[in-house]
Amino acid sequence: MKTMAVINQKGGVGKTTTAVNLGHALARTGRRVMVVDLDPQGHLSPCLGLFRALPQGVDRVLLGEDTLGEHAISTRELMELVPAGNGLGEVERLQGGTERGRLLRQAIDRQPPDVDYLIFDCPPSAGLLVMNALFAVDQALIPVAGDFLSLTGLARLMGTLGRVEALRQRPLERSIFLSRYVARRRLSREVREKILEHFPDHLMETFISEAAVLAECAGAGRTIFEYRARSRSAAEFEALAGELIFKGEHGYAQEASHVA
Ligand SMILES: Nc1ncnc2c1ncn2[C@@H]1O[C@H](COP(=O)(O)OP(=O)(O)O)[C@@H](O)[C@H]1O
Ligand SMILES: [Mg+2]
Repeated sequence: MKTMAVINQKGGVGKTTTAVNLGHALARTGRRVMVVDLDPQGHLSPCLGLFRALPQGVDRVLLGEDTLGEHAISTRELMELVPAGNGLGEVERLQGGTERGRLLRQAIDRQPPDVDYLIFDCPPSAGLLVMNALFAVDQALIPVAGDFLSLTGLARLMGTLGRVEALRQRPLERSIFLSRYVARRRLSREVREKILEHFPDHLMETFISEAAVLAECAGAGRTIFEYRARSRSAAEFEALAGELIFKGEHGYAQEASHVA
């Protein structure tokens, strides 16, 4: 099982959009996928067309003894969703020691879900929920929208991820991709060049273009493959899935540095 967290402390960069459309892209290749909403705002469910209230979900896994599988809802062929649940915000306020950051890891170890890809949609924060995701996954998938403020945030995030990797003593793959790319905008290109300069081994080849259709399909509760299967956005999410599958099987450039 491959586990990944879609993470960036900034809101509006495309984390939830990625969890939904990358998740469906992977499921469409025949992989079993589970997407988990770790954001107390709970936007993942409506983006997948579930507009009714879903009072329980991963909150019961983190605050109780439930398993992810017990709260999984089948949403698409080969794609399950674990909603946030009403209590998820409480996790940020838990008191106690370092164990608070390892609740998710422990839950997965207790009962690993029977899927090929487990994807966590993280909140736009750097709190305990995100920490739980980072202790639980193999890979951090970092969408970056093109502006220079996001570069400062990215540098800080990459620092945090390095420290978490050292703490947990297990490699944490870091994969950055441009999530709202506008090719004709010079700033977008400059941000790409800066990322290449500072994190050359971590920038994915695939980028996701800014496209109104991605906002539209989210509002309709459909994935891009259902809403506009022949759009450029659909092709881009297919390519993102393809790149992750390929590198997951053949290794990432930066793995060499883990060995060294
Ligand atoms: N590539 C894109 N092009 C156009 N709109 C996008 C794109 N990615 C995300 N959006 C829209 O921007 C808003 C924020 O995206 P979202 O995925 O919810 O970000 P986050 O989860 O990081 O806060 C949503 O309305 C979403 O539909
Ligand atoms: Mg979100």
